[in-house]
Amino acid sequence: MKFPQIRELLTGKQAGKKVALRGWVARKRSSKKMAFLTIRDSTDRIQVSINRKKNEENYNIADGIGYESAVLIEGILAKDDRAPGGYEIKAEKIEVIGPSENFPISKDQSQEFLLDVRHLALRSQRLTAMLKIRSSVFEAIHTYLRKEGYTEVQPPMFTTAGSEGGSTLFELKYFDKKVFLSQSWQFYAENFIYALEKAYTIAPSFRAEKSKTARHVTEYWHAEVEATWMDFEGLQELMENLVTAICKNVAKKNTHELKAIGRNPKDLLKIKPPFPRITYSEALEMLKKQEIEIPYGSDLGSREERAIGKYFDKPVIVTRYPREIMAFYKKVDPENPKVCLNANLLLPEVGEVIDGSERESDLNKIIESLKHEGIPPEEVDFYLDTRRYGSVQHSGFGMGVARIIMWICGFDTIKDVIAFPRTMTRVKP
Ligand code: 4AD
Ligand code: MG
Repeated sequence: MKFPQIRELLTGKQAGKKVALRGWVARKRSSKKMAFLTIRDSTDRIQVSINRKKNEENYNIADGIGYESAVLIEGILAKDDRAPGGYEIKAEKIEVIGPSENFPISKDQSQEFLLDVRHLALRSQRLTAMLKIRSSVFEAIHTYLRKEGYTEVQPPMFTTAGSEGGSTLFELKYFDKKVFLSQSWQFYAENFIYALEKAYTIAPSFRAEKSKTARHVTEYWHAEVEATWMDFEGLQELMENLVTAICKNVAKKNTHELKAIGRNPKDLLKIKPPFPRITYSEALEMLKKQEIEIPYGSDLGSREERAIGKYFDKPVIVTRYPREIMAFYKKVDPENPKVCLNANLLLPEVGEVIDGSERESDLNKIIESLKHEGIPPEEVDFYLDTRRYGSVQHSGFGMGVARIIMWICGFDTIKDVIAFPRTMTRVKP
C-alpha cells in the first residue's frame, strides 16, 4: 500500500480515486449523521468525512477517538469546496494505529503551560512550520558559505576562557579543573583560518543570561564565520549577502509554512543588499530624535535597537562602536582610536542578529586588551600564536541563528523558534 502525504493529496491529482493515508487526529466533530476528522501529517491537514449510514463502525471509531491518535484511513479522495484545502477523503476504513487519550493541549492555554508540554506542542501547525523554516535557514547558511569557499569546522565546547565577557560564562567542574562552556568559537576561529583561510561553524553557544528578555536564551545555535584577508568592507558585504541568501532560501522552500504562520514570502524576497549603514554616533543622534538619550559609551539594548530599526524598512548595519564596550579582539579604527572597526547587523523588531569586526592583528595590542578585560594572556596562549606566526588582516562575525528565524517568522519571542528553549528558569523538557 502507498501512503501519499497530505500535501500531495491536496493537489487533487488523485481525486476520485481510492487513497490511503497515515496521520494523526488534529480535530474532530460529529453530528448524528456524519463525523468529521481533520488528519494532520508533517506536510498539511485534510478533512476526512464518515457517513454513519454507510458504516456505523467507522462512525463510532471517529466519534470516540482522542486527539492525536495515530490512524490509517482509506477512502475516496473527493473535491469539496467546503473542506479546508478543497478536498476531503470519504472514509471507507478507519484503523487506530496508536490510540491517544486526554491529549493535554487544547485552546487558550498559557504560554508557560505550553512550554511545560513543549514536546507535544511541537506538533502544532505553528511550531511545525517554524521547524521547517528553521531547517531552511540552516541549509542556506551552509550552502551560501560553502559556495563562497568556506570550510565548515567544529570547535570544542569545553573551554578554559570566555571571549565574550565573564558575566555570562557557565562554569563547570571538569575532573579537577574548572572550565567553561563555549560562548563563541572566537579563540579557535582565528586559529582555523591560518589553515583554511575561510572557515565557519554552526554550533551551540552558551550564555548564563540572567536577564529575561524576548531575545535571550542560555543555549543558542551560533553561525560564526572568520576569514583571512577580509577587510571591514568585505565583512559587511558578507553579512548582508548571507542574510539575503537566507531570506531567499526560505521564500523558495517554505511558501506553505510562511503562509501558515501569516507571513508573505514576497516580503522576504524584497530583502536585498546593500543595507543602510550608520555609525554608532549617528545611531545616538537618531535615538535622540525619538527622545531616547543614551550616553556615548553605553551599549545599545533591545529598546534602542528597535527604535533604530523603525527608521528603515530593512536590516541596518551599525558600525564603529566605542572601544571601551568592544571585546579585546576587535580592531581599533586607525582613523579614530575611540572606536573599533566593528559592525552589528540589526533586524527590524528584533535588533542585533550579527556581531562582527575586523580583528586586531597586532600581538602587543591584543595582550594589552586581554589584560584590560581580566583574561590572563597565558590562559589563551594558543590564541596569541595567531599573532606570532604570520599574522594577517582578518575579519569575522557571529550570527544568532534563532534571532533571524524569529524575524522571518514574525514571532515575538525567541523561545518560539527553538524546539526546546533553555532559559534561566527552564531546562525541561
Ligand atoms: O554579540 P556576540 O556576543 O558576539 C560574539 O560572540 C562574537 N565572538 C561573534 C563572532 O565574531 N564570531 O554574539 C553573537 C550573536 C549576537 O549578535 C546575537 O545574535 C547572538 O549571537 N546572541 C544570542 N542569541 C540568543 N541568546 C543569547 N543569549 C545570545 N547572545 C548572543
Ligand atoms: Mg554583540
